[in-house]
Amino acid sequence: MAKIQTLLVPLILFSSLVAASYYETIPPSSLSSQEKLTHLRFYFHELITNDKPSLLIIDPPKVMSNSPLPFGSMVVIEDPLTIGPGLDTKKIGKAQGFYLSATQREGIALEIVMGMTLHFLEGEFNGSTLSVLGRNQIMNEVRELPIIGGTGAFRFARGYVLARSVKVDYLNGDATVEYNAYVYHYSSTSSSSPQPFNHGLHFMTDPILAKI
Ligand SMILES: *[C@@H]1O[C@H](CO)[C@@H](O)[C@H](O)[C@H]1NC(C)=O
Repeated sequence: MAKIQTLLVPLILFSSLVAASYYETIPPSSLSSQEKLTHLRFYFHELITNDKPSLLIIDPPKVMSNSPLPFGSMVVIEDPLTIGPGLDTKKIGKAQGFYLSATQREGIALEIVMGMTLHFLEGEFNGSTLSVLGRNQIMNEVRELPIIGGTGAFRFARGYVLARSVKVDYLNGDATVEYNAYVYHYSSTSSSSPQPFNHGLHFMTDPILAKI
């Protein structure tokens, strides 16, 4: 119905679009929920000795180095997240992302930059994600990484995670890491967005632009 209308009046619509702005201020109350703080705790498993390893090391640079992860190495991960430290406990999500070795310093003191999405698959946060990006000096007992955003129930997320290794197999590389995440976000899990431009001039429904 709306489509037929826009086809009938493309010229009028288009000329008013030219005059229209592409932005508007909308009241924060259109989010229709209060900001809240949530603490999540879960365990992250890096499985190298598994039949199906949860990480992949991208062709390391051909340089002489005594670092286990020479400068420029990149690792891609798809690691399970569980409710308890045991891999046999309930799976509540997965971490997908990368880390890269970002220091030319030699030796075991790895300095990595880590970027990942935490995708939750259970309960209130099923389908929601958190985006984490930061420095991870994995030899430190506790590492702090910022939460820089999120989706679903975690829209507008900001916060931090504290990562602490609870079990590390230094010989083979398998590791279990406890994550405590503290995140400010809004309580609404509704998938609908606040509707801006309620005068009907939706950018992508413009008859000309919609063909692109
Ligand atoms: C999580 O959401 C997906 C997609 O909506 C659904 O298929 C699945 O059953 C949900 N899982 C749980 C445990 O609620």
